[in-house]
Amino acid sequence: MNQIHLFSTRSGYLRLLLSVGFIIAAALFVSWTATADDGAITAGMTAHLGTADVGNGEKLFKRRCRACHTNTKDGPNKTGPNLWNIVGKEQGAKEGYRYSNGLKGLGGHWGFEELDRFITRPMDYIADTRMAFPGLRKASERADLIAYLRSLSDAPVPFSLN
Ligand code: HEC
Repeated sequence: MNQIHLFSTRSGYLRLLLSVGFIIAAALFVSWTATADDGAITAGMTAHLGTADVGNGEKLFKRRCRACHTNTKDGPNKTGPNLWNIVGKEQGAKEGYRYSNGLKGLGGHWGFEELDRFITRPMDYIADTRMAFPGLRKASERADLIAYLRSLSDAPVPFSLN
């Protein structure tokens, strides 16, 4: 009796594993077909970028970011580093700026998803960050702001970057 019971839960477990595997494979396939098209936008909040309002992003920047960041080409670093040409670029790499160890150690790039996570709540993304900003909770506002940051470049990166 015990053995039969064991057998049936095992095969139930196996079936569960198989269906989870199938779902993962399906999700991978869907995201692969989505990124195959160069104009496509990938997962997460970046879905909002397609309808983002760059003008509103500029307003948000003035209200929420400009106290600490410049937005012009070759603009100076202030409390925070200059943000010209930041989207798609190396994290913690603006010349002459002293970053926190956490930010310096990231070693990745500021893709749309990374910016979204950081701006949502900076201290969740980098525990020891020196960016004293509580975060922007509304996904649509983050999308507007990130679309604006993307425009701060001579050659804005494609929306399919991440
Ligand atoms: C109170 C000042 C302050 C405000 C307000 C602020 N920041 Fe920052 N920001 C900083 C500091 C300081 C750093 C460096 C953080 C570190 O080294 O951990 C930083 C770093 C960054 C970086 C990383 C840059 C790089 O070179 O890797 C980005 C991106 C950024 N901020 C975007 C924003 C955006 C967008 C806003 C507005 C929503 C904003 N910040 C608001 C102070 C601020």
